[in-house]
Amino acid sequence: MDRFALTDLDHPIVQAPLAGGPSTPALAAAVSAAGGLGFLATGYKTPEAVGEDVAAVRALTDAPFGVNVFAGGGAPAAASEVERYAGELAGESERLGVALGSPRFDDDQFAAKVELLIEARPAVVSFTFALPPARVVERLHAVGSAVWITVTTPGEARAAVAAGADALVVQGAEAGGHRGTFDDAEPGEIALLPLLQLVTAATASHASVPDGATAEAASGARVTDGAVAPTADGAGVTDGVAALTAGGAGVTDGVAALTAGGAGVTDGAVKSPGLPLVAAGGIANGAGVAAVLAAGAAAAQLGSAFMLTPEAGTSAPHRTALADPAPTALTRAFSGRSARGIVNRFMRDHDAAAPRAYPEIHHLTAPLRAAARANGDADAINLWAGQAHELAEARPAGELVTQLAVDARTALRTAAARFGA
Ligand SMILES: Cc1cc2nc3c(=O)[nH]c(=O)nc-3n(C[C@H](O)[C@H](O)[C@H](O)COP(=O)(O)O)c2cc1C
Repeated sequence: MDRFALTDLDHPIVQAPLAGGPSTPALAAAVSAAGGLGFLATGYKTPEAVGEDVAAVRALTDAPFGVNVFAGGGAPAAASEVERYAGELAGESERLGVALGSPRFDDDQFAAKVELLIEARPAVVSFTFALPPARVVERLHAVGSAVWITVTTPGEARAAVAAGADALVVQGAEAGGHRGTFDDAEPGEIALLPLLQLVTAATASHASVPDGATAEAASGARVTDGAVAPTADGAGVTDGVAALTAGGAGVTDGVAALTAGGAGVTDGAVKSPGLPLVAAGGIANGAGVAAVLAAGAAAAQLGSAFMLTPEAGTSAPHRTALADPAPTALTRAFSGRSARGIVNRFMRDHDAAAPRAYPEIHHLTAPLRAAARANGDADAINLWAGQAHELAEARPAGELVTQLAVDARTALRTAAARFGA
């Protein structure tokens, strides 16, 4: 069965899944109908609500779209740590006039959501926070859904390739919302541009290896645990990433190098990755889209940039905060897992004390955040946002997709002209 490929899209632009309110069927449908790829977020929703969202997108458009699932991972935190933090938040509870939520460990109904999606067969099912189990990948593939996995380090990228992913969502540290890192004890903090280059290098040797299994790469280089031994002819390999020598002349290109007159310099500076890469984190306009495409990504994924669109379910105080220039930071203060948001009083007051305890702290602070949202109190809300949030525009999502595509084309032409192309 043919699975969705990014080359099926009119525009290599993906709307990031945005759990907690901003993602709506209207947003996903508008992006997909405009020739990008819209996404639903299933995080914190019941399977029934997810089913309704999928049906709602399908009622609005026939275009392909994706659905994102939290892949669990982690383990319950020490109860004493959660209790200590609950004590820390007593003043917030008093100030907002609501009781703290009851902290509990759960997997966000992973199995039920997967069953629903196997039935619903969206074009893409993406996973964050961990690798999906092998059986889940197999079953989604069997019904024709492509599987994408979010990665934040080259090591996670290699693991995702080996798990059978059809594409990698490469999430730089600039990204708004939770880090997709598999182990929150070590949240990947590599920025998008270095990460794209590192992931390309780490996975390029898997090119044309079916299902990403660790095996002999097309070049003949033996791949072991992502590292690459010398190529068969051995001569002149300089970058250690399944490089092919270019006529043995010393300077190498990554994949299928062409010598320029045989004099050592090769053409084709950007390596072809083994899998399509979807770049996410701090991309806010057409130039940003162009930049990641130039760096080898197959598509750009934007989150914050879509949060001011009328189709998004972003709360009013969150919209106001996004539009203003303000610094962002990573914090566990709201959910117990590293996430990037606009710095506010709650983050400043509680970041240092917040334990690594997801989703217990998410449940603990949920009533506080809901009350703050209802009061329009932006100082106690998790204002998830990427580093370029202030560039977000309040315009219809479909129009934004078209504008991004036009501006990205212009940016790429301008950049090519710098080299006389
Ligand atoms: C409000 C918000 C909610 C998010 N929810 C999810 C989610 O449910 N699943 C996911 O994989 N990523 C989620 N993310 C991360 C985005 O998918 C994406 O990586 C990020 O928005 C990219 O950075 P940018 O906001 O600078 O464009 C969320 C981000 C934000 C800002």
